[in-house]
Amino acid sequence: MKKTLAFVVPIVLALTIGVFGSYMQTSALEHWYPTLVKSPLTPPAIVFPIAWTVLYVLMGISLGVMVAKGDMSLVRIWLLQLLVNFLWSIGFFTLRSPLMGLIIILVLDVLVFAYILYAIGHNRLAAWIFVPYMLWLLFATYLTGYIYLNNDTVGYRTINAANITNTNINMSTATQLSAPALHYAADALAPTMSRETIDYHYSRHLKGYFDNLNRLIAGTPYENMNLEQIVMHSNGAIFNNAAQALNHILFFDNLTPSQGQMPKRLQQAIIRDFGSVENFKEQFTAAATSLFGSGWVWLVEDKSGKLSIVSTSNADTPLRQGLNPLLVLDVWEHAYYIDHRNRRADFINGWWNIANWQTAEERLQQ
Ligand SMILES: [Fe+2]
Repeated sequence: MKKTLAFVVPIVLALTIGVFGSYMQTSALEHWYPTLVKSPLTPPAIVFPIAWTVLYVLMGISLGVMVAKGDMSLVRIWLLQLLVNFLWSIGFFTLRSPLMGLIIILVLDVLVFAYILYAIGHNRLAAWIFVPYMLWLLFATYLTGYIYLNNDTVGYRTINAANITNTNINMSTATQLSAPALHYAADALAPTMSRETIDYHYSRHLKGYFDNLNRLIAGTPYENMNLEQIVMHSNGAIFNNAAQALNHILFFDNLTPSQGQMPKRLQQAIIRDFGSVENFKEQFTAAATSLFGSGWVWLVEDKSGKLSIVSTSNADTPLRQGLNPLLVLDVWEHAYYIDHRNRRADFINGWWNIANWQTAEERLQQ
């Protein structure tokens, strides 16, 4: 009976951790993992759960072989590698960080190698049973490293996924992969955004993203997609330029020299989800002020119609999380440096007077 338990307990424990790890991967597997650039050696998706199930069982048998003979010396390192194995699921999938995943799996490689080395001196069978796990881990390390090196735009994300994919953005001009015309004069937004800022931001930065994008997609399948489709399916430099182009279209569309009253429907939705317009502005301002480095702050609507504020870094966009962007503020330094130097807070305060409530409301889906 004791011998049976020596095998059953570690096998059940390993499988339980495996199942829990899979559960923690669910959202990322659906929304994030398919968007990554992966090694051509990546096996079909079905291989992973099968391989891991077999390996978790072998993992348990290996320890069982030792424990059944009364040797408990490997229990600690076995438990430690199982914990690190679980942390890999959290780091790579739940936190959506290839870098964290790579670091954790390298630690795991060392632990599993140490386990095998130690086991050789005690029970060769226990060591051999662990070898397929070691080989699989080395392969997984390569796959993770490949993803880390080839997905420079994908890292830790601060926003939650929702299950909507359709957005209400007017893409009629974006499909031609050129910037739409501004619907106000270049000097109409001064002093928050001077003509010179518009000249640099719209005529040079935004045009630069489109020029790069058109060059990068020439001769690729992306050539036949509209801008939003490219944003949803690309990675690396193509994603960076496409997302920056789309984010800027939304940003410039969200500006107006004649703001007027906030439309009722938008106002009611904001009061419903933030308590008051003042609370919303306060939270949005705090998010914009505290965003580290370059990025964007968004008012978004989820599948159920609930509004929230999210921040994204660099070119990242909530569209990839299935969220519908209503209002966006560009807090890259190039958005305010000419007029406000390093005073981002001044720019944000001024932006509240030129934010376009009408276009934000038009994007509401619910
Ligand atoms: Fe910008």
